[in-house]
Amino acid sequence: MKVNVSKGTIGSIDTDALVVNLFEGVKKPAGATGTVDRLLDGVISQLIQEGEITGKKNETTLIHTLNKMPASRVMVVGLGAKSKFTTDVLRQVIGTAARRLRSVNVKRVASIAHGAGIGGMESTISAQTIAEGALLGLYKFDKYKTLLKNRLSIDELAIVEQDDSKIKQLKEGVNKGQIVAEATNFARDLGNEPANILTPTELANRAERMAKEVGLEYESLDRKQMEKLGMGALLAVAAGSNRPPKFIILKHIGDPKNEGNNLALCGKGITFDSGGISIKPAEGMGAMKGDMAGGASVIGAMMAIAQIKPKINVMGIVPATENMSGGSAFHPGDVVRTMLGKTFEIISTDAEGRMVLADALAYAVEHKQKRLVDVATLTGAASVALGNLAAAIMGNDQSLIDQVIGAGENAGERFWQLPMWEEYREQIVSDIADIKNSGSGRAAGTIAGGYFIQEFAGGVPWVHLDIAALARTDHEKGYIVKGHTGFPVRTLVRLAENLANVK
Ligand code: BES
Ligand code: ZN
Ligand code: ZN
Repeated sequence: MKVNVSKGTIGSIDTDALVVNLFEGVKKPAGATGTVDRLLDGVISQLIQEGEITGKKNETTLIHTLNKMPASRVMVVGLGAKSKFTTDVLRQVIGTAARRLRSVNVKRVASIAHGAGIGGMESTISAQTIAEGALLGLYKFDKYKTLLKNRLSIDELAIVEQDDSKIKQLKEGVNKGQIVAEATNFARDLGNEPANILTPTELANRAERMAKEVGLEYESLDRKQMEKLGMGALLAVAAGSNRPPKFIILKHIGDPKNEGNNLALCGKGITFDSGGISIKPAEGMGAMKGDMAGGASVIGAMMAIAQIKPKINVMGIVPATENMSGGSAFHPGDVVRTMLGKTFEIISTDAEGRMVLADALAYAVEHKQKRLVDVATLTGAASVALGNLAAAIMGNDQSLIDQVIGAGENAGERFWQLPMWEEYREQIVSDIADIKNSGSGRAAGTIAGGYFIQEFAGGVPWVHLDIAALARTDHEKGYIVKGHTGFPVRTLVRLAENLANVK
């Protein structure tokens, strides 16, 4: 779908469907909705009176205009209560509207810049949010459905504006929204792809191809190079699989003379997590094809960052491997030496995410990274704690934690901080090695995971995002569709933008 901005008035725009809006409880439509209401002889007012249109969030009402105006349909979307209106509400509503319009075979959609009027939103933000909502909401992963004959799709979405002075801002917003949404959908594709296709090598290949297209530096390390660097933790996890591991590195050089401001994004890249010798139950194991969602979000964020070009150096690192139980697999009870030289004891081979991240963080620190953010589907316990409403966030630097939470608020992605009280460290104390890879019980499992990873941040400001509960979903809602969500690509991109230009 192409998204663009077109100059015109509500009454003159020629399209299959024009999207206008209503806040909850408004009885007399104003602005663009009021104009449409007049052109259609008061039908919107009448539907409000009859109770069919209420303005409730995500409500969509499709009205055929029967030649009373050039647009052949008008869709009135409910924005919910005005006092609760946010960019994320708009993103959700547009996602819902776009899917409904696609389902009735609409090809050309026009939309006003919702929120930019009485909603009080900047034009750039409104346009970015509309582009994001539509492109994310229309995402589908159906490439393996060979029997599907009639794939419906919207060809064009135009944001209509009559005021010349706003066109430039709207275009900027559309451009950024498109970049961010396409990068999120790229991450979603990686997450949804089955593990027989998306091996560590294939993940690296796709990252490389993308890097060439958008202008990122790309490098990948193979098993031999990992051995040379002493990445014993990553190699232990990789030992049980015949599919070779890859250590993927992407670089955006946005401020070469300012290495003190470097930001590293490290994403867990387990292309399939069987649990290894500490094998997982069969039920639901297929979802573990998506255990590289953290890595996918890092690759997606790098794709957007390369195009937005913030003035900051960002390094994306994805340690990629399967976690299998082949004949040479690592065992519970093993002791492993990491790149940093620290040793740890394996309590569970299913606590593999923190292991690959240990070597990734050590690599980042060794390569002059000054801030570290890791993203991982690390613990089932994160969903016990927070459900799927927020990802768990922890770290050793409150200011960086606050930066990430803030970027998330702006992006419509929620994070909730868990404590890192030093008593929790007891969970990872080992009798025979420096530390161990899992606590003894189930209590505070998410924090234990964070504590383990912290040991490899080398005192550099570091933040850990446990996205286990948010990486995928079974429910369609707003701009979120079934399957992988691409969480938290939007946050990572905004974080890089917000941290740019710091001396
Ligand atoms: N990949 C899993 C965590 C996970 C679970 C992600 C469910 C998404 C949905 C991770 O590698 C794992 O197995 N974690 C263990 C940790 C434990 C062994 C300390 C867990 O959560 O049980
Ligand atoms: Zn695991
Ligand atoms: Zn895992």
